[in-house]
Order: sequence, then structure tokens, then C-alpha cells
Amino acid sequence: MKAIILDGYGGSDRLRLMDRPEPSPQAGELLVKVRAAAVNPVDWKIRRGDLRPILWLRFPYIPGGDIAGEVVAAGPGVTRFQPGDAVVAFVDMKRGGGYAERAVVKESAAALKPQSLSFAEAASLPIAGVTALQALRDAGRLREGGSALIHGGAGGVGHFAVQIAKAMGARVTATCGPSNVAFVESLGADSVIDYTKEEFPRRPDRYDVVFDAVAKSSFPACRHLLERGGVYVTTLPDPGVLFWGAVQALAGLFGPAPRAKFLMVRPQGTDLEFLGRLADEGRLRPSLALTLPLERSREAQDASQEGHARGKIVLEVGS
Ligand SMILES: NC(=O)c1ccc[n+]([C@@H]2O[C@H](COP(=O)([O-])OP(=O)(O)OC[C@H]3O[C@@H](n4cnc5c(N)ncnc54)[C@H](OP(=O)(O)O)[C@@H]3O)[C@@H](O)[C@H]2O)c1
Repeated sequence: MKAIILDGYGGSDRLRLMDRPEPSPQAGELLVKVRAAAVNPVDWKIRRGDLRPILWLRFPYIPGGDIAGEVVAAGPGVTRFQPGDAVVAFVDMKRGGGYAERAVVKESAAALKPQSLSFAEAASLPIAGVTALQALRDAGRLREGGSALIHGGAGGVGHFAVQIAKAMGARVTATCGPSNVAFVESLGADSVIDYTKEEFPRRPDRYDVVFDAVAKSSFPACRHLLERGGVYVTTLPDPGVLFWGAVQALAGLFGPAPRAKFLMVRPQGTDLEFLGRLADEGRLRPSLALTLPLERSREAQDASQEGHARGKIVLEVGS
């Protein structure tokens, strides 16, 4: 099969199209004919070696943590899927494998592809969409009628977060750059802040959840924006969040106190099913900033690394 491989850490010039042996599914796994694979910032962070302390790769490594495609074969013990099913799934990051014509995924990390979405749109859901869902629902405990501020509402995670928070019945404020204001409004945000014109932490407003989808702020800078008992959630671990998380958890023993949390996405097929239902009900629509063929993965990662994609970047695989 054709696959993009990395033979060591480095720049995007280390991404090369090669022929590789097809993987085979073990117990509880599916072999999927990949039709589309999303590109996420974690892909180029892994390529550069940023995650070395927690994710030690074996080379050659095939990048890619999100795929959509068709089931070709199911390993022993698989009960929910059969060959021919159109699916969307997380790929295990340590093993890698998304940027390829075939990939192996765990049954528990897969869901049927939403019927209303193309393969490219569906492939954009796992890492970005489920991160947004778990940040708002699980870490933030956002409720119907509550309020959320999404910092970075135009990006992969952020554009899903705006739509998911609206689908949860919350009042949503989001930040973005000047060229994305109309886009973020079109996602349903009640209020949009252009971060080049206004520093959002200076606002007098209060929110139940401040979700920093682009990890460009900090808990101390946003703490005063939180309602009593409100939660600041970020997608990047930093010592400050861990420190403040512990301090505020102690303070919470004596009454409602703002909390700081770091969210690491959990690859749950049930959450993909939930997002698929939202999509099929017309309440969630992935926006594709850039769609490129598999062999142009260097350009795709370079575009992601620039940090201003509007929605998601996706590689289309095969025909
Ligand atoms: N912990 C986890 O499990 C997890 C999961 C997913 C993602 N992440 C991390 O979360 C971060 C975001 O991921 P992503 O996929 O959403 O990235 P992305 O799609 O590449 O984000 C690009 C977006 O960031 C916005 N942006 C850049 N600078 C900004 C600023 N100063 N203020 C507000 N918005 C800004 C850009 O909007 P403008 O062009 O309008 O500036 C652009 O739309 C990455 O660091 C990623 O590694 C972590």
C-alpha cells in the first residue's frame, strides 16, 4: 500500500511517500481502506520530536490519528462492524498509520460514518471534534442555559467547540482573528471578539466555561472571567495549569471556586457516534480549510504549522 512515512524526527521534508506492507487487524481491531485522513497540529509536533518525552516512536512511522474509510476486514471479537461499513475512527498515535491507503483501528475508537458527511468531512471529527466535546461536556460540565467563551473559535478544535456549545444550549462567545469573524458568526456564536482589536481577558463578562482551544492564554489571565465554580479548560499541559488546578481544587473544598483543567482527548467511539448524530441532525458541520491528496502531506502539515487554518486540513486518499 502507499503510505507517507517518517524515518526520523525533523522538518516536513522528512515526510515521504513509500510502499509499505498492509497492516493486519488483531483481536478487537478493524482494517480500514482509508478514504481521508485529517491533519492535526499533533502530527507535526510528533514529527519534530516535541512529544518525545511521552511518545517514543519506532521508525519508520506513518503519521495520522484521524481517518474515515471503509472496513475491509475485522479481527477476532469485533461485533459492531463488518466489511463494507463506512466508518470514522481514531488511529492509535503511538502505532501511527492514518496517512496511508490502509489503517488498523480499535473497534472501540470507531463509529459508523455520519451519512450526511463526506469521507473528508468525517475524517476531521475524531481528534478535533471529540476534544471539543470532552472539553465542554466532561471537563467544563457545560449545561443548557450556561455560558462559554471559546478562545480560538476558527480552528479545528475551536470551530467544533462553538457548534457543540450551541448544540448544548449554551450562550457562546468566541475569539478569532479579523479574517475569521464572519466565519465564526456563521457557526452560531452569539458574540465574536476579534483578538487583534480587543484583549478578551479585559472583558467584564463572566462565563461558566472558558475553553482555550488554541492554548494561547493562561488560567491566571482568565480566572476573573469565570463565574463562581466556573472552569478554565486548555488543550496543552503546562505547569501553571497543573499548579492552579491543584490549588483551586483545594480552595473548592471550602466553597465554589474557579478551576483550571487540562484536557487530553480520549479516543472514544461513543463520542464519535454522538458527534455523528449532531451532524446528521444538521447541528454540526465540519469546515474544511484545505483538502489535498495524500502525496501532498508536506504542504498539508506546513499549512497546519502556520497556525491559521480556518477549520480542518484533510488528506484525501485513493479514489
Ligand atoms: N490535548 C489534546 O488532546 C489536544 C487535542 C487536539 C488539539 N490539541 C492542541 O490544541 C491546539 C489547537 O488545535 P487545533 O487543531 O484547533 O489547531 P489549528 O486548527 O491549527 O488552529 C488554528 C486556529 O488557531 C487560531 N488562532 C491562532 N492564534 C490565535 C490567537 N492568538 N487567538 C485566537 N485564535 C488563534 C487561528 O485563527 P485566526 O487565523 O483567526 O487567528 C486558526 O483558526 C493545538 O496546540 C493542538 O496541538 C490538543
